[in-house]
Amino acid sequence: KRIAVLLGGLSPERDVSLVSGRACAKALREKGYDVVEVDASRDLAQQLKDANPDIVFNALHGEWGEDGMVQGVLEHFGKPYTHSGVLASALAMDKQKAKAVLRASGIPCPEGLIVSRFEAAKAHAMKPPYVAKPNAQGSSVGVHIVLEGANRPPAELGSNAWALGEEVLIERYIPGRELTVAVMEDRALAVTEIIPNTTFYDYEAKYAAGGSTHILPADVPEEIAELARELALQAHAVLGCRGLTRTDFRYDESANPPLWLLEINTQPGMTPTSLAPEQALFCGIAFNDLVEWMAENASC
Ligand code: DAL
Ligand code: MG
Repeated sequence: KRIAVLLGGLSPERDVSLVSGRACAKALREKGYDVVEVDASRDLAQQLKDANPDIVFNALHGEWGEDGMVQGVLEHFGKPYTHSGVLASALAMDKQKAKAVLRASGIPCPEGLIVSRFEAAKAHAMKPPYVAKPNAQGSSVGVHIVLEGANRPPAELGSNAWALGEEVLIERYIPGRELTVAVMEDRALAVTEIIPNTTFYDYEAKYAAGGSTHILPADVPEEIAELARELALQAHAVLGCRGLTRTDFRYDESANPPLWLLEINTQPGMTPTSLAPEQALFCGIAFNDLVEWMAENASC
């Protein structure tokens, strides 16, 4: 079969996607597929037409790749593609709206408010500690944690150079630990605790060697691990996601409830050392087998 792997693209996560996409393309070649790499630039539709694939493997992250836009092009193209469809992708990419839907199904999500980036840089109703983040980006780009008395409001948000969207999510900061759970359709894989070696799990910590430590399986009580897996499955189902997703949580041992869902990622990082592939391997699913499963589960 011929597979077009979409990679790169137009978002601030372009470099991450190039690494994800090349790794997936290599895995698919090793599995015997005829692979063509497609850098998802503005001429994507033309490139797809030229490549004429049986399946599209979407290894894009962020805007124009994870937010329903490319999924709409692929629906129109009429070939099966990996990961979530238009609505689930668009909804999951809008952190605040996704939380509203998840909360309505009983999943605890931290309260937040949407403000303009200028308000975020100056004045709004939330008192520290809070997190200010672009409402629709990934990989922690542009995320600021404003701790009580410690940090100044993020002035960067008001600058001309800001290119991460006009909507900023101001979200209550949940103290404690960071957990993540990958889901393969109806199977929650495992729970990883992420310990950043910097102040938090920012872009550096995510992609620089030694930037963070992954504890797999997380050293948390079994009922917390079980709850995290259940909530990740529930979030995947409630938003109508497909294939692989990864849900991020904060775990505050002293709080009730202890687990807070931050977001669900519909295009999780796919470098061989990324969190979801790491959990798959922990469950006995090698990287190449995970990628093949994703390709064979593609639909439209
Ligand atoms: N947005 C990055 C790629 C992730 O969630 O893994
Ligand atoms: Mg994310």
